[in-house]
Amino acid sequence: MAYLSSLPSVNVSCTRVIEFWLGPSNRGAWHACLSEASLSSYFLNLDARSNAIDTLSNASRPREHTSQLIIVGCAIIGTAVCCYAGLFLKMRIPSLSVNEYKDTLWSRSGQATELLVAFPRVRMRVVLLSALALCAGVFAQSSTVVDQYVASESPIAKAGVLANIGSSGSRSSGAKSGVVIASPSTSNPNYLYTWIRDSALVFKCLIDQYTRGEDTSLRTLIDQYLGAQATLQQVSNPSGTVSTGGIGEPKFNIDETAFTGGWGRPQRDGPALRSIALITYANWLIGQSNSTYVVQKVWPVVQLDLNYVANHWNLTGFDLWEEVDSASFFTSAVQHRALRQGVALAQSIGQTGPVSLWSSQADNILCFLQSYWNPASGYVTSNTGGGRSGKDVNSVLASIHTFDPAAGCNSGTFQPCSDKALSNLKLYVDSFRSIYSINSGIAANKGVATGRYPEDVYYNGNPWYLATAAVAEQLYDALIVWKAQGSLTVTSTSLAFFRQFLSSVTAGTYSSSTGTYTTIINAVQGFADDFLAMNAKYTPGDGSLAEQYDKSTGAPTSAVHLTWSYASALTAFAARKGTKPASWGAQGLQVPSGNCQNPGPLVSATFNEYATTVWGENIYLTGSLDQLANWSPDNAIPLSSAAYPTWSVTVNVPANTAFEFKFIRKNNGAVTWESDPNRQATSPASGSFTINSSWR
Ligand code: NOJ
Ligand code: NOJ
Repeated sequence: MAYLSSLPSVNVSCTRVIEFWLGPSNRGAWHACLSEASLSSYFLNLDARSNAIDTLSNASRPREHTSQLIIVGCAIIGTAVCCYAGLFLKMRIPSLSVNEYKDTLWSRSGQATELLVAFPRVRMRVVLLSALALCAGVFAQSSTVVDQYVASESPIAKAGVLANIGSSGSRSSGAKSGVVIASPSTSNPNYLYTWIRDSALVFKCLIDQYTRGEDTSLRTLIDQYLGAQATLQQVSNPSGTVSTGGIGEPKFNIDETAFTGGWGRPQRDGPALRSIALITYANWLIGQSNSTYVVQKVWPVVQLDLNYVANHWNLTGFDLWEEVDSASFFTSAVQHRALRQGVALAQSIGQTGPVSLWSSQADNILCFLQSYWNPASGYVTSNTGGGRSGKDVNSVLASIHTFDPAAGCNSGTFQPCSDKALSNLKLYVDSFRSIYSINSGIAANKGVATGRYPEDVYYNGNPWYLATAAVAEQLYDALIVWKAQGSLTVTSTSLAFFRQFLSSVTAGTYSSSTGTYTTIINAVQGFADDFLAMNAKYTPGDGSLAEQYDKSTGAPTSAVHLTWSYASALTAFAARKGTKPASWGAQGLQVPSGNCQNPGPLVSATFNEYATTVWGENIYLTGSLDQLANWSPDNAIPLSSAAYPTWSVTVNVPANTAFEFKFIRKNNGAVTWESDPNRQATSPASGSFTINSSWR
């Protein structure tokens, strides 16, 4: 039975009271007035949840009970007034069992009807109004509903995450140390594997908690995750070896061997997400004066991931849902963030070798990222392939996982409060209003349950906990920024989003002293809470989070105890509290103007030319590529004489590309070319290569 089922039942009972007044022969209304589902199930749920909390973690019994009891109290009073005033019955609600309670209602309902039809009209109105007022009172507490969901679900979600991490997690037996299982489900679907994406997002959440000082016990686990990822990077798999594309493999067996079955591979978001998580850890370590550990343990893993990203971002791959082989917004967005963070890390630990490649590719990705925006419709087309509408929580996840609280509402990086991200959010959310029956009857400006994308058919296409939580999180992130800057801006792009809350609003900037600001902030807070309230409503009594809940019945479905679902609850709850993630460098980034430089994946080429020279004479390289100065002797690339008489230089050139080149000598402005023909080479698909030659 769904958690918090009591509150909607109170609603039903009050609605039925009204129906009763309109049509006094509706005898069944009295049954519904205090239906068996409302209060007794609530108490059953409370106990189930507390037991789950006690078993799963050492957390003390949460304080939620006080606020839950207040709500239950309200519900009891409100409903009792409805019924008592009409029935003149003294019901000792909490002391009755479900059946006693039902019997009482049934046996007295006939009598009640007679009494009621004899009521003076004025008395009816008073009763009706007080019932309505009390019901409204209960519903005005939707934030309280979410408060107590957060209080009760937080320890369960945290325990749920930890239970799914090997080797000691209680639901992850067989997983190697630091390996995150996606879910303990072994059939329909079998998720007892480790995905690079899920694991990185889970550890992003844990590393944030650890580095913010919220849970100092996580250090060992984080180091085990790091160790497990270092191992997995080296495991040859169907996507390749460590140097031939294996870094893009999406999932492995939980004993750290390769998964060799058919799959949508490669997926290029995983290495970026892993770097993002690990760089946050690295930055914290540097702050603790532990750069040595960073250089020795974290950097090698990050460097492999980011070189992979820098060299492959421009190739297609499978999206995060493992279905569409194309370019994908989420993947590009997290790749961009990862490279920026990588550049900053490289600089802070003096490993500047890859800086120029990573930063130029970050510029290229930021430029490319803009192309997903669909200006005519006002949303992000999440995949360039796949033939769908493109409305996809892919884009919402991109926004929350690239949130930088220092970047304001910048739309180039699709910050949560940017006009593009808000417009996109509205269109994405609205696409689920009519297709899930559990959303029917919910007002168009209230939160609903949302899924991956409206065309989804996986397990029949349902709401996902992590998708609905992501919507709430984007809105909470937006609130963090608006509150910090003391204003919010409505543009023509975001107008439709804001008009959901204030139909008269027009484009402009509203400071925190205006009524417009206050109205919108409060409404957005409530709107965000609606989404968590949907998840709350369809979270079972024990607080467990599966992958999905049925679009018609709300029953949990697909994989049980999905680690990512638990992590998504924790990050949404943190955002609701106003917790800011660390900045990653999005502040002040300018989208490159003009056409995007899109050189595709690059590989590193080292040229060693044996050449004896006279004093004042130097060796240069030029050739048929942009990277080789397009045969320009003036712009030719100088080689280093550090290993004279061997002259050397390393440059990045496009992968998989045939090109021509030559060395030249320059002496006091005089240029001497090597003899013909031009030298020829073809770069490999990935990795690096070396060309050794002698002057001729
Ligand atoms: C399994 C994938 O994990 C899931 O995302 C996908 O929807 C189904 N396969 C169907 O392709
Ligand atoms: C299916 C989801 O589509 C995918 O994103 C996820 O990585 C796997 N399930 C494992 O949770």
